[in-house]
Amino acid sequence: TFLAVLVLLASYLLGSIPAAAWLARGRGVDIRKVGSGNSGATNVLRSLGKGPALIVAVFDILKGALAVWLARSLNLPPEWVGLCGVAAVIGHNFSPFLGWRGGKGVATSFGTIAALDPVAGAGAFVIGVACMWLTRYVSAGSILGALTAGVVVLSLERPAWMAGAILFLIALLIWQHRANIGRLTAGKESRLGEKVR
Ligand code: G3P
Repeated sequence: TFLAVLVLLASYLLGSIPAAAWLARGRGVDIRKVGSGNSGATNVLRSLGKGPALIVAVFDILKGALAVWLARSLNLPPEWVGLCGVAAVIGHNFSPFLGWRGGKGVATSFGTIAALDPVAGAGAFVIGVACMWLTRYVSAGSILGALTAGVVVLSLERPAWMAGAILFLIALLIWQHRANIGRLTAGKESRLGEKVR
């Protein structure tokens, strides 16, 4: 329907707001040229510190969650609710404001997943943060957290539209981390608290 397509486009646009890149630019930093070069909260933490990183993380999580809540509150069919949550992440990763590039979708996927399936969101959060804490690798924690959400969704036998949306986001998140995975296996990934290269 017309409304569903409109909300889908709005979700994509909401997701495409590059909080990390714009907040860094406001402080005279080109996020693509520092640290990992990624437009995300982790790289803002590296280059600008905790406060700005927290703002970016919360904003990016809300992009995913708001897309799901909006679609739901307008009583769109469940498939469209899932699609709108996915669209926010696609917007974040492939943003027209950043030349169709963007971040890796960790925070935004978390917002979408937690809004779609709070149990999967909670599982992802606990395991992901524990892994970040123990290894000091945000990327490893992000990937493990995402995989945890997948295990929850599959073991709780969520409806196909929900499982489909979440499993797609997990696959996309891992793909977006391909450079990180290369660095992790080469022992060259930067750890939390390390100086910006
Ligand atoms: O925020 C995404 C995180 O998993 C990795 O970020 O900057 O270390 O590539 P980064």
